[in-house]
Amino acid sequence: MENNFDSLIGKYPYPRKIRHHASSNLYIPINQLKVVDEFYPPLIPKEIVAESFLNKKAPNVMDIGCGKSKFLFRYAFGNPQDNILGIEVRRLLAEWAQEVTTQEQIPNTWVFWYTAVNGLDFIQESSIDKVFYFFPDPWPKQRQQRRRLFSVEFLADIYKVLKPKGKLYLATDCDYVHDFHLQTLKKSGHYEYNTPIETEWNLPKTNKEEFCIEKNIPIFRLICSPKK
Ligand SMILES: C[S@@+](CC[C@H](N)C(=O)[O-])C[C@H]1O[C@@H](n2cnc3c(N)ncnc32)[C@H](O)[C@@H]1O
Repeated sequence: MENNFDSLIGKYPYPRKIRHHASSNLYIPINQLKVVDEFYPPLIPKEIVAESFLNKKAPNVMDIGCGKSKFLFRYAFGNPQDNILGIEVRRLLAEWAQEVTTQEQIPNTWVFWYTAVNGLDFIQESSIDKVFYFFPDPWPKQRQQRRRLFSVEFLADIYKVLKPKGKLYLATDCDYVHDFHLQTLKKSGHYEYNTPIETEWNLPKTNKEEFCIEKNIPIFRLICSPKK
């Protein structure tokens, strides 16, 4: 296994036709849909989660909405003791990350094609050290806002899977999404949260974060601790 993911990036071009936003059904829980077609990602059976990783261990870190997965791979290469599970609703991107994992025999990454609106029941309770939720799609228009994954229910799902000393990391480049995160955290009541100082963050960059840094776009970050 290479110890530096960045040296591999050019070897695996991203799929050409990644739809920016997939069909609106993908953001609706399966039990609220009348028709579930083959474009809707399957639920994840609990039994296959640890089996999916080449090292056959269960995940202790999650990246929800991992997108083009640079962060996920960088994190995995820098933290070989951790197993990081990515969740991504865009099928081609999830499959791209599975291909990189398989071809490079990376023991500690796996990415499921899945929509996180269906919850995290496939993860063992109190088993996760870190959940990353970075640069979610902002869905700025009123009629789109129900597509946002971040909600009191989503925070309850994360609360359940986090260890008592686990952490939820949030980042966004949109001030209104940041405000929405703060309001939803307050409503949830399950977390203490703070804006981290730079040394507290110390994490690899995501694809979107690199874009923001290049364009000088400010980033809003939060670290949330479950009150357990
Ligand atoms: C703007 S991208 C950011 C990707 C990555 N975290 C980064 O920082 O570069 C947001 C990602 O979240 C994914 N996403 C949105 N809703 C999702 C859901 N319900 N379940 C899983 N992934 C979702 C999108 O497909 C997209 O890849």
